Amino acid sequence: MESRENPVDPFDLVVFGGTGDLAQRKILPAMFKRFCAGQMPGESRLIGAARRELSSESYRVLVGEALAAHLPARPDGDTLAAFLARIDYVQIDGRGDTGWQDLAALLCPDRIRAFYFSVGPSLFGDLAQRIRAEGLADDQSRIVVEKPFGHDLDTAQRLNADLDRQFMECQIYRIDHYLGKETVQNLMAVRFGNMLFEPLWNSQYIDHIQITVAETVGVAGRGDYYQNAGAMRDMMQNHMMQLLCLIAMEPPAKFDPDAVRDEKLKVIRALDPVEPHHIIRGQYTAAEGVPSFREDVDNPRSKTESFIALRCHLSNWRWAGTPFYLRTGKRLKTRSSQITVVFKDAPHSIFGRESGRHNNELTIQLQPDEGITLDVTIKEPGAGGMKLIDVPLDMSFAEALGPEADGPDAYERLIMDVIRGNQTLFMRNDEVEAAWAWTDPIIKGWELRGDVPKPYDSFTNGPDDSSQLLRRDGREWRGIKR
Ligand code: BG6
Repeated sequence: MESRENPVDPFDLVVFGGTGDLAQRKILPAMFKRFCAGQMPGESRLIGAARRELSSESYRVLVGEALAAHLPARPDGDTLAAFLARIDYVQIDGRGDTGWQDLAALLCPDRIRAFYFSVGPSLFGDLAQRIRAEGLADDQSRIVVEKPFGHDLDTAQRLNADLDRQFMECQIYRIDHYLGKETVQNLMAVRFGNMLFEPLWNSQYIDHIQITVAETVGVAGRGDYYQNAGAMRDMMQNHMMQLLCLIAMEPPAKFDPDAVRDEKLKVIRALDPVEPHHIIRGQYTAAEGVPSFREDVDNPRSKTESFIALRCHLSNWRWAGTPFYLRTGKRLKTRSSQITVVFKDAPHSIFGRESGRHNNELTIQLQPDEGITLDVTIKEPGAGGMKLIDVPLDMSFAEALGPEADGPDAYERLIMDVIRGNQTLFMRNDEVEAAWAWTDPIIKGWELRGDVPKPYDSFTNGPDDSSQLLRRDGREWRGIKR
C-alpha cells in the first residue's frame, strides 16, 4: 500500500505487555491504521511480547479481537489478514531467561528496532538492561516508555538513571499521549504560525488563562492504580503540565526536539510553588447507576482526589502577575478539554458604562469538536443605540477542513515519530524531573496536613470551592458547559 504520509523506514516494533490493556486499546489499533496508511513498509513487523503462554497464531487471534473491539469500524478481511501476517509473538519473562533467544531470532538485522515498554514502570530498568545484555539493541535502537514515569521525583530520577545506564537520551521516548493530539500541536501552530496572537501573548494584554480537562468517566477498573495516583499524579504532573508549557513557552528558535523541550523546561522551572489555599481537591460521590470514588477504589477512607483545580503563577518576564487556572477531574458534567485565553478589557471604553464590560477571549477546544473560537465585541444590531455584545468568530476544524480534520490519533502519530527518530513530542528526562519537583511539595503538603478532598456530586462541575477559587479573584470558569 502506498502512503500519502511522510515515509518511514522498515522497522521491527516489539511491544512488551503486548497482551495488556493499553496494547489492545491503543497500540494495536494505531498500528493497524498506520498499516492501512502504508506506513509499515517492506517487511516491517510487530512482535508482541508478554508472559502469557501463547503461540503467534493465538496472538494473531487476540489482535484480531482487539481490533474488532477498539476500531470504529470492523476491518475488512483481506487487509486484516495482511496485517496479521506481519505479527509475531514471543513469550518472555522480563526478569528471567525465558524467551530472549526467541526474540533475538525474530529480529531482522537491517531494520530499525523499537522496543515499546507497555508495562509497569517497575519493569523498565530490567527490560532495558536485558535488551542490552542480550545484544538486541544498537545505537540506532529506540525504547518507548509509558506514563506514569515515576511516582515522585525520587522514583523518576531512579528510572531515568536505570534507562540512562543502557540507552542514550536520544534513544529514549517518554510518551505523554496529549502531545500526540492534533489540536495540542495546533497550540504551537496557532501561536507561532500567526502574527496575530504572539504580540499580545503576555501579561500586559492577557488577564488570565484557564485550562480544563474534564472527563465523564470514573476510575472503575483502574482503582488500584488511581488510589495511589490521584488526579495530581495522573493528569496534572504530565498532561496538564504539557498543555501549560505549550501555552506559556517562549517561541523556540526551531521546531526541533531540543529547541522545543528547552523552552518547555524553562516554563516548568519558572512555576512558583502553589499556595495551599490555591488548590481545591475533590472526590466524586455516588449517583444513580454509578458508584462513588471510594467504592471505585475500594477504599472507604480514601483521601485520593479525583478532581483538582489550582491557580499557579510563572515567575518570568512574560507572565509575571498573570494567573493560570488549571482544572481536571473525573465524573464531571461533560467530556471537554479546552484552553481559554482571557484578554484584558480595553483600557478605556468610549461607549460609556451602560455598554457593559467587554473583552476578547480565545478558546482552543482540544476535544471533542476540535476548533478555535475568538470572542470579539461588536455593536448589537438594532436601533437601540450603541449597545455592545460579544460574538464568537467560530472555526470548527471539522467544518473548515472536512475529512482532513480527522488526522491520525495520538498513538499513531507518536509511534511513527519513534520510527522516524523525532523526539519533539516526547518528554526529556529533565522535563519529567522538573515536573515532579514542582508536584512533590504539593502532595507532601496534603499528606502532612492530612487533607481530605471535598466530595462533589457526579456529573457536575466538581466541588463548589473550585468556583470560589476564581470567584474570589472576580473571575469565572469557562469550559465544562459548552
Ligand atoms: C490518561 C490517564 O493518561 O489519560 C487517564 O491515566 C485519563 O486517567 C486519560 O482518563 C485521558 O486521556 P484522553 O485522551 O481520553 O483525554
